[in-house]
Amino acid sequence: MHIGIDFGTSYSAAAAIIGGKLTLVRFGEAEQFRTAVYFPELVPDPNDFELTPELEAQMEAHMRSARLALRRQTAGGEVSRSDQELRRDALRVVRRQWMEEQARAATASVASFQHALFGEEAVEGYLESGGGNLIESPKSMFGYRLDPQVRKVIVHIATHILEHIRLTASRQFGEPVRGAVIGRPVEFRSSMGAAGSEQAIEILREAAAAAGFDEVSFLEEPAAAAMHYHKSLSDRQHALIVDIGGGTTDVTHAELGGIASPLIARNWGLPKGGTDLDVGVSLHHFMPLMGKDIVRIPQHQFVEAASVHNLPKQREFRKQNYRLIAAPYGPRLRALQELGATTRLNQTAERTKISLSSEASHRAPLDFIEPGLAVNATREDLDTAMEPFLALLERTLTGVRGDLAALPESVFLTGGTSRSPQVKARVQACFPEVPLVHGDPSLGVVSGLAVAASEAVGVAS
Ligand SMILES: Nc1ncnc2c1ncn2[C@@H]1O[C@H](COP(=O)(O)OP(=O)(O)OP(=O)(O)O)[C@@H](O)[C@H]1O
Ligand SMILES: [Mg+2]
Repeated sequence: MHIGIDFGTSYSAAAAIIGGKLTLVRFGEAEQFRTAVYFPELVPDPNDFELTPELEAQMEAHMRSARLALRRQTAGGEVSRSDQELRRDALRVVRRQWMEEQARAATASVASFQHALFGEEAVEGYLESGGGNLIESPKSMFGYRLDPQVRKVIVHIATHILEHIRLTASRQFGEPVRGAVIGRPVEFRSSMGAAGSEQAIEILREAAAAAGFDEVSFLEEPAAAAMHYHKSLSDRQHALIVDIGGGTTDVTHAELGGIASPLIARNWGLPKGGTDLDVGVSLHHFMPLMGKDIVRIPQHQFVEAASVHNLPKQREFRKQNYRLIAAPYGPRLRALQELGATTRLNQTAERTKISLSSEASHRAPLDFIEPGLAVNATREDLDTAMEPFLALLERTLTGVRGDLAALPESVFLTGGTSRSPQVKARVQACFPEVPLVHGDPSLGVVSGLAVAASEAVGVAS
């Protein structure tokens, strides 16, 4: 059987049409799970290479045998290479061997996936153990330039998530799930432009095959959201679908409703979403307590600390030495460098953002940084923290409006971030004359993918 999979930046979900009815795959009690995996072993980082006494001894051995070989070649004459050159060569060899060893260990550790945890359990497992590896929002990394070893690890992580979905669905439906329609953003978050999106699809394809899916196709996430909306419209109309998720914002212009199939006319993408708002909240509300704009530390270090889904940035932040920064900022920064602390800070930022969607103020405790430390955040503060994202959203929608020959008859809003009143208001402000229709913010995309999956096999199985 075939299922629809919404492999989200923040949350993932799956569903199928069974007997003509939408049936969501249940992960424990929930209809979606946080797209996070925790596994106890560490993923290697080439920057972690350090000359331990053992590696130093290996280098000495290489240098000795190189000297010996040189003496033999020159038949007892002058040694033609300096010690410095020999040392450089030996370092290269030892470093390469170390990398190979790390790569082998990483492959072995990702192969032993039975110890992995998913969703909220993954985050908890990581915070409790204070070690190992938490991969949150792996989708954000698919479009980035990856060295081959890291790419391999990321494919393994995606495989594991897709396998978790496939096995859970197979158990629930009582038959093996072999096919999937997987949602994709119009534009993945990428450091390589369009090539990033191609790489992302390639990674998902490889992962799905390894996870046991024999047939896989992809559908743009807003097109999937449109599919569901389409079924609810009796008359044909031009609509704009705006899906504002965790990592990306997708816009689709489509002809929907009536008896004909939905006709997708055009897509636009903005590779930003709710996770960028969390970084904004962190920088605006929390980082001043760590000394941002107060102590003489370059701004980018605070951005690195807040960017919890960007592993290289996180490593950069952890490498900094804050021993000479005066109290209270130095000790707070050092507390933030502890394993798991930036993840906690990010979770607190997300909670603050979500809470301010419905409350006027929110108290965010930061005891893990310093006992008694807390931030009182207000809706007005959040407006400031959100403005960079809202400005980009406005620019995107203004561009879309300019591209359209005629105004749409409705703007259909979906995605978790569309729960934010500021976001709703900004979308409406870009189309003041057009009615705003609210879809299911969390399950609109997966519902559409399930319909597409049932049509992919030709029967509503
Ligand atoms: N009440 C709320 N106010 C603001 N943001 C919210 C609210 N509830 C959830 N969110 C945000 O919605 C985002 C998740 O949305 P969604 O599940 O649509 O994303 P996703 O499908 O995982 O990501 P993507 O589609 O970008 O890959 C998160 O950033 C979450 O913090
Ligand atoms: Mg989504």
